This record gives sequence, C-alpha cells and structure tokens, in this order.
Amino acid sequence: PRILQFQDDLVHWYSQRKRDLPWRLNQDPYRIWVSEIMLQQTQVITVIPYFERFMEWFPTIKDFAEAPEERILKAWEGLGYYSRVRNMQKAAQTIVSDHQGEMPTNVADISELKGIGPYTTGAIASIAFDIPEPAIDGNVMRVYSRLFEVSDDIAKPSSRKTFDKLVRATISQTDPSSFNQGLMDLGATICKPTSPLCEECPVREYCASLAKNTVGQYPVKSKK
Ligand code: ADE
Repeated sequence: PRILQFQDDLVHWYSQRKRDLPWRLNQDPYRIWVSEIMLQQTQVITVIPYFERFMEWFPTIKDFAEAPEERILKAWEGLGYYSRVRNMQKAAQTIVSDHQGEMPTNVADISELKGIGPYTTGAIASIAFDIPEPAIDGNVMRVYSRLFEVSDDIAKPSSRKTFDKLVRATISQTDPSSFNQGLMDLGATICKPTSPLCEECPVREYCASLAKNTVGQYPVKSKK
C-alpha cells in the first residue's frame, strides 16, 4: 500500500543520501541525546566541533554526571542556554542513581528525565532503540504540513497533537530510526522553509500540496 511505499522511499533516500555526522557513527543513546540537546539551539555545522570535544571530555554518562560544574559550563561556552547542560547533568545523575548508568530503553522512563521533552524522547527512542516514536520539531511539522496540507498554525503548541497523530499513523515500524532521521534531513536539505527543492524530493509523489500547487501556503505559522 501507499503508506508503506512512502516509508520505503524515505528510508531508501536516507540510506543513500544521509549526511555524514559524528552522532550517526553508532546508536549510542548518550551520543544521540547530547547531539539532540545541542541541535535544539544551534546549527549542525556549528555543533559538530562542540559535540566532538564534549565526547572527549565526557566519554560516558557517568563521566558527565560526575564532572565539576565549571567543566560542563566550559564545554557549553558559545552554545548558550546553560540551563540545558545543567538539566542534562541532573538527568545524567538520575541515570547513574536509578538506571545503573545506562539510558533507559523505554519511552516512559526516558521522558521523565530532566530537560528531555517529547521531541528528545522520540529522537532517542527511535534513533538509539528503534522504537517507532515521533520526534516532532519545526522541520517535521513543515514537511508534514506540506505532505498533507495541514493548516494548523505550527506556532501554536496545540498543533503538536495534529502532527503527532499524523506521524504516528505514518512512521515506519521496521526502521523508525532511518525514517525519523530521513525526515530531519529532508526538512534540512530539500523541504526547506523557502525555495524547497520539490523536483529532488524522494516523496514528491505523496505530497498533497505539490499536487495542488500550494506548497508555498505551508506551513501556516503565525507570528508570536
Ligand atoms: N537536527 C536535529 N536532530 C538532528 C539529527 N539527529 N541529525 C541532523 N540534524 C538534526
């Protein structure tokens, strides 16, 4: 059926075209967690050297949990939003005390950790553990709003529910890691905010807004 074909086309495109990024070297949940927190505030190209140094300074969750505050702040210098690294260290200490130093492998326990919201939970669960959980950020909302002509205002927190339902209904059950990372790369390189490259899109045949020539009308985004 069409939905399986859509998943397969996206996953195949990702396998051929995925960007070579240091947090894609393996499925270590710690590396994925750190990268996702850094990427929430900063562009990929800027994050790479911070990420590499962070992993050298704090190779494991336990190393990071035990690091002096000044050292973790130093590692974050230039990234901004220091509360993120402080919360991350609190979560690392919880992982050491309550989960034997290993990232929990289920969605409920991951999402209880300090500073880990629905997006980061979904990213860790899907990329590290192959759990079919949505990881919805602005890029994914843009992609889905165009694919399905969703007119919900993506600036409104209540719109998340609409996108969560759509992604749950369409996410690959067999390779959710590649599917979610494929959505991320699609949003970053093809389904861009302005001047999307629709003729290069691996899922163009499933795109409702492309068929109706309304791509430019999506996503709907009010100014805050
Ligand atoms: N943006 C957010 N998460 C990402 C990831 N894992 N890879 C590339 N870009 C991203």
